[in-house]
Amino acid sequence: MDFNTALEKIKNIVDFSNNILNELVSYLYENFNHYSWIGIYLVKEENLVLGSWEGPNATEHIKIPIGKGVCGSAAASGKTEIVDDVKKDDRYLACFLSTKSEIVVPIKKEGKVIGEIDIDSDKPSAFTKDDKLFLEKVADMLSEHI
Ligand code: SME
Repeated sequence: MDFNTALEKIKNIVDFSNNILNELVSYLYENFNHYSWIGIYLVKEENLVLGSWEGPNATEHIKIPIGKGVCGSAAASGKTEIVDDVKKDDRYLACFLSTKSEIVVPIKKEGKVIGEIDIDSDKPSAFTKDDKLFLEKVADMLSEHI
């Protein structure tokens, strides 16, 4: 699946679905092999709370304090985090034994982080600059609908 085609499809989901977050995580999971687990966390007071997710297993991290873990760091800084090797990142909160790399993309509204897209991959160094650009565009589309 190429990123531009996916963006068109996602724009449809965002504009017309009654269940945007669930449909989006399912779409990403089904169309990108290197996206092994996808979650959307929403900011609630001082925490990130898991909204929708898709993947083989549930995570125990359904509530993450802002500032904690890779997810909490991205929420605190407002910047995308790419971790090529989760074993080498001290901030990493482990969810699945199979995870090798991770990307976390903040969703911002008027400069404020309101949520984020978190993707784990079973492949090492799975996430490229193109994944980052793609997912940042997806986050922008979502921000108007959260
Ligand atoms: N690994 C994340 C926690 C969320 S799980 O990947 C689903 C972190 O370090 O913040």
